[in-house]
Amino acid sequence: MRHLISPLDFSVSEIESLLTLASDIEKNRPKYAHACDGKKLATLFYEPSTRTRLSFESAMLSLGGSVLGFSSADSSSASKGESVSDTIQVISCYADICAIRHPKEGAALVAASKSSIPVINAGDGGHQHPTQTLTDLLTIHSLKGRLGGLTVGLCGDLKFGRTVHSLIHALIRYCGIRFVLISPPELRIPDYIRENVLDAAGIEYRETTNLEDAMEELDILYMTRVQKERFFNEEDYIRMKDCYILDAEKMKNAKPDMFVLHPLPRVNEISVEVDDDPRAAYFRQVQYGVYIRMALILTLLEVNCPC
Ligand code: NCD
Repeated sequence: MRHLISPLDFSVSEIESLLTLASDIEKNRPKYAHACDGKKLATLFYEPSTRTRLSFESAMLSLGGSVLGFSSADSSSASKGESVSDTIQVISCYADICAIRHPKEGAALVAASKSSIPVINAGDGGHQHPTQTLTDLLTIHSLKGRLGGLTVGLCGDLKFGRTVHSLIHALIRYCGIRFVLISPPELRIPDYIRENVLDAAGIEYRETTNLEDAMEELDILYMTRVQKERFFNEEDYIRMKDCYILDAEKMKNAKPDMFVLHPLPRVNEISVEVDDDPRAAYFRQVQYGVYIRMALILTLLEVNCPC
C-alpha cells in the first residue's frame, strides 16, 4: 500500500506516469467516469481549505466514487481530544483512501503509520503540500512542455509557504532548474531548505527582495500569499502582508511566454488586472489540480485504467 506524504515519495518516472495519466483524463473524461464506482474517499481537514478539499471531492466524484469527511477540527472528534492516530484507525474502517490536512508538521506521516488505507498529505503545517506540487508540475508541464531548463521565481512568503517548500524539493530533480527566491529578509526560505536541499544538490539560485528586477529573467513566476495563520504576532503580518503586488506594470517586464502561477487563495499579491493577461495561469492551475488528483487516486487505489 502506498501513501503520498512528501513529493519525493514518487520517483521522477512515477511522476511522469501520473502526469501522462492526468493528461489523458483531461482529454477523455467520460472514459474515467466509473473508474472508482463503489470506492470512498475520506477528507479529514483539521485546517480550513476551499480548493484542496473540494478539488479532492470533485476528483473522486468525477471518478464515480463517493466522499465523506469533515472540514474543520471543531466538527470532528479532535475537539473531544481524539488523536490523529486513533481517528485514522477509525476512518480506515469507513473509506478506501483518505486525504488529511493538519496544522501540525508530520501529522500526515503519523496518520500513514497507523492507517490501513492510502493516506494523502493535503498539507501539514508549514512543511509540505505534495498534491499542490503535483498540480504545479502538471501546470508547468502543460504550459511549457517541460519541467527542466526553467528559471522559476518563487515570490512572497518563502518561510512559511509549504507549497514553495514542496515545489523546490520536486523541481530540483529536473536538469537545468534555476530559482530566483524573492522575499523580504524575514520571510526567506528556511535554512534547512537552502542548505540541505538547494546547496546539497548544487542547484543554481539567487535570493533577492526585488520582484521588479527579477521579472525579465523568469520562465515561471510562482506567487504566494503571506501565511497569516503561521505568524506569531499580528504586527509582523500587517507589516509584511503587502510586500509584493504583481500588477500590469510589472508584467510588462516579463517574457511573452512567462506564466504566473499561484496556489491560491490570493489576497493582495496579484492585482486583479493581471487576471486578463494570457500569461496568468492560476485559474487554469486549479483545473489541473482536479486532473492530477484523479490520476493520484487511481494510482494509489491501484485501479486499472479503463484504457
Ligand atoms: C495553499 C496551502 O494551503 O498551503 N493553498 C492551497 O492548498 N491551494 C496556499 C495557501 O494557503 O496560501
